[in-house]
Amino acid sequence: MKLLVVYYSMYGHIYEMAQSIKAGAESVEGVQVELRRVPETLSQDVLEKMGAVDMLHKQQDVPVCTIEELGQADAVIFGTPTRFGNMCGQMKQFLDATGKLWMSGALVGKAGSVFTSSNTQHGGQESTILSFHILLLHQGMVVVGLPYTFHGQMEIDEISGCSPYGASTVAGPDGSRSPNKNELAGAYFQGEHVAKIAKKLAG
Ligand SMILES: Cc1cc2nc3c(=O)[nH]c(=O)nc-3n(C[C@H](O)[C@H](O)[C@H](O)COP(=O)(O)O)c2cc1C
Repeated sequence: MKLLVVYYSMYGHIYEMAQSIKAGAESVEGVQVELRRVPETLSQDVLEKMGAVDMLHKQQDVPVCTIEELGQADAVIFGTPTRFGNMCGQMKQFLDATGKLWMSGALVGKAGSVFTSSNTQHGGQESTILSFHILLLHQGMVVVGLPYTFHGQMEIDEISGCSPYGASTVAGPDGSRSPNKNELAGAYFQGEHVAKIAKKLAG
């Protein structure tokens, strides 16, 4: 059973959440989990202006995902920062190259799930995940969210991401907030939940 965590992270929030997603999925016996990033599409000049170079450099050891390995996975959990309430362009560009998988039905019947991050609390986390689900459905994937059995979802004592649609973190207006314990627990839960469902789907 092979589960892929495929993500893009410019400033590290999604990268950190991805580690927790991976740990959760790995806690399920017989599930092998691999972390993959999608290719960068912005120029070095733009990345420098966005202050993204150092963080992207830290992720150099994470292999770039190929379309072939995406098609071979038994389940995929996608992580993307919010960009104007949608997935980021890097992720979209990568997925726009999966026509071959769509044609062959390579992802049909496999679990697909999404987690995200945004600067502001109401800046589009839910729309990012839900609009991403449309693509998963076109690929015939079985959409998996983050059920309320993850009780951290009821958290209102402090700022926290996570919704029934998927785990999420709030990076703060200047991006300086790191994922808190509750958000990382939501990510872990989602990883474990998807892995368990993937095993059931494999029958
Ligand atoms: C072009 C652009 C658009 C963005 N749009 C939104 C947005 O609609 N809502 C929001 O709260 N944050 C928005 N952000 C902030 C990012 O979502 C935030 O930097 C990201 O979640 C941090 O994740 P990362 O550290 O993994 O890159 C935007 C950032 C950029 C660069």
